[in-house]
Amino acid sequence: MEIVTVKDKKFAISITAEQLRQRIAEIAAQISKDMEGKKPLFLAVLNGSFMYAADLMRGITTPCEISFVRFASYEGMHSTGCVNEVLGLAEEIKGRNVIVVEDIIDSGLTMQLLLSKLREHQPADLRVASLLVKPGNLKVELDIAYTCFEIPNDFIVGYGLDYDGEGRNLPAIYTVME
Ligand code: IMP
Ligand code: MG
Repeated sequence: MEIVTVKDKKFAISITAEQLRQRIAEIAAQISKDMEGKKPLFLAVLNGSFMYAADLMRGITTPCEISFVRFASYEGMHSTGCVNEVLGLAEEIKGRNVIVVEDIIDSGLTMQLLLSKLREHQPADLRVASLLVKPGNLKVELDIAYTCFEIPNDFIVGYGLDYDGEGRNLPAIYTVME
C-alpha cells in the first residue's frame, strides 16, 4: 500500500516495514552491546511506542526488563503544548540503567519533562531510544542516544503512531499528503 486514508486525510508511504525492520535490528544490536551486563530497564511510553518497543525488545540479546508509562501531549495534528504527569511508574528505577522508548520526538517537550521526572528517582543512567526524531521541530536541547530515523517536520502516521486515535495498526510509516 503506497497511499492510505486515515479519517479525512491521505498519507503516502515514507518508511517501509522492511526499512523499519532493518534499522530497528541495528539499533537493538547497538543497545545490546552498550548494555551488556547492565540489565537495562526499558520504559516504553504509551501509546505510540508499543509497536517499536515490541520489535526493539525482540532484538535485545542481553538480559533486560520492560515496563510502560503513559504521558499524553498530543491531540489531532497539533501539540496541545500541555503535558501531564507520568502514570504507571511502578518499577523501582533508582540505580538502574533506564532506556526510555519513545515513538517520536517532535518539539521534545514531552521527553524533556519525562526525563526530569525520571531523574528525580535517581537512575544510574538514563538514555532515550526514539524511533523517529523531527530535528527541525526541536524546541529544547535533548541528548537522544538512539534514533532510528530523522524525518522532516510533516505529520506522520503508522507503526504505532496515530492520527486522532487511528492508523496505529499500519505496518509502515506514512506522511500526510498536501
Ligand atoms: P513533543 O512533545 O512535541 O515532542 O511530542 C511528542 C509526542 O507527540 C509523541 O510522543 C507523539 O505521540 C506525538 N507526535 C508528534 N509528532 C507526531 C506525528 O507526526 N504523528 C503522530 N504523533 C506525533
Ligand atoms: Mg508518544
